[in-house]
Amino acid sequence: GPLTAADASYKLAPPLHDALKPLAWLLGTWRGEEGKGDYPTIKDFKYKEEVKFDHVGQPNLHLHNNSQFCSSHYETGKPLHREKGFLKIQPGTSHLALVNTQNVGIVELSEGEVKGQEIMLESHTIGRMTFGKDPAVTKIQRTFRLVDADTLEQVVHMETSATAPAQHHLSIQYKKV
Ligand code: HEM
Repeated sequence: GPLTAADASYKLAPPLHDALKPLAWLLGTWRGEEGKGDYPTIKDFKYKEEVKFDHVGQPNLHLHNNSQFCSSHYETGKPLHREKGFLKIQPGTSHLALVNTQNVGIVELSEGEVKGQEIMLESHTIGRMTFGKDPAVTKIQRTFRLVDADTLEQVVHMETSATAPAQHHLSIQYKKV
């Protein structure tokens, strides 16, 4: 049948699933203007990035969250690095899983913990295209931390087929939009 008023308001503002409550502080759109990137094998760079965490209120999943990442060429604002993923929580625990696809052609499966207003994730599996560029990414470590009510920080370390152990690649602070 047609969409009812209740269907429509559910779509606009779905109630947060109970299992998601430990992650509620992440919800929203976050914009960072002064990201710093580096790695031993590349030149230092700066970047801007918008990250969005939302949900559709799915009651049938223990947790369903949507995280979306998008970076830009600093000067032109052209899209560069992009990601879309699902952050899941094991119900009744602080255990997290991130299932994340990146436009560079890799899929990241990470697990970790939420502790208060901080998340730590480390990949256990990186899936890669057969025609991916070298060096291959072999490990990704991320932390998200709420610095204050409207400031979120993300730090990323990675390991590649050419460079181990994991070393710093990205740091950025976002303001809530
Ligand atoms: C380079 C991975 C996110 C910008 C690289 C390299 C890898 C990589 C493997 C090549 C390193 C080498 O040649 O030794 C990743 C992963 C990311 C990520 C796994 C996310 C978890 C980003 C983001 C930006 C970015 C958000 C910002 C816009 C760059 C730049 C280079 C680079 C500018 C150097 C130039 C180039 O090779 O294209 N990254 N990256 N990366 N990354 Fe990232």
